[in-house]
Amino acid sequence: MQNERKIPVHVAIIMDGNGRWAKKRGLPRTAGHAQGARVVEQILEDADHMGIRYLTVYAFSTENWSRPDSEVKALMNLLRTYMKTSLAKCARNNVRIRVIGDKSRLDSDLQASIANLEKETASNTGIGFQIAINYGSRDEIVRALRKAAQRVKDSELNPEDITEDMISDGLDTAGIPDPDLLIRTGGEERISNFLLWQTAYSELYFCDAAWPDFNKAELEKAIDAFNNRERRYGGLIS
Ligand code: IPE
Ligand code: IPE
Ligand code: MG
Repeated sequence: MQNERKIPVHVAIIMDGNGRWAKKRGLPRTAGHAQGARVVEQILEDADHMGIRYLTVYAFSTENWSRPDSEVKALMNLLRTYMKTSLAKCARNNVRIRVIGDKSRLDSDLQASIANLEKETASNTGIGFQIAINYGSRDEIVRALRKAAQRVKDSELNPEDITEDMISDGLDTAGIPDPDLLIRTGGEERISNFLLWQTAYSELYFCDAAWPDFNKAELEKAIDAFNNRERRYGGLIS
């Protein structure tokens, strides 16, 4: 049975439910985020072992700045730690990192460690790991459109030559195939401004498990559900 499972090429995850997970245990929300960060690392390894080629996770949205300062700070510190400490592991596992989202609003030291990690892993040929930070799909589309409008203004591009492929290539996910499967944990069933353009034909899977409780068995359940659907477009690895 296991061997017959088709593996999606690209899995995207809205990691939700950290705060509620912590609250249920009488812990501060930040404890949920810390546990969530450990789960991301494990799921990246599991996804890689399962043969998934691209994993994209939603770590911090453009809307998440409106959370209390202390929570924003704790989330940024977790990201900071990840960018600084994961290089050796990425090298060992051949992981290629890309951060999507508007990095210009992040603290300059965080921007620098992201740039370093992206550069140092750029020629790795294993799983592509995209981390969405200060990411909003509408914001991403606005930034892509501004770039295209500038090219029109500079007479480098005719409006009638704008194509779907060109728009895809202007997004932060340029060059990465669209997700085959989008998972949201934590029981809510909405997209929350994540990859709106790229998920036009993705299969959607919602699960009740809070992100800190997500594990390989939950990922396999999502992939089994994906296998039981009739897909119209997109890739599968057999
Ligand atoms: C997801 O968990 C993590 C981020 C959005 C950064 P939440 O913090 O949204 O947890 P809930 O949804 O409040 O439980
Ligand atoms: C989505 O979760 C954003 C991330 C997982 C980073 P939220 O908890 O922020 O989304 P809403 O507020 O429920 O839509
Ligand atoms: Mg939430």
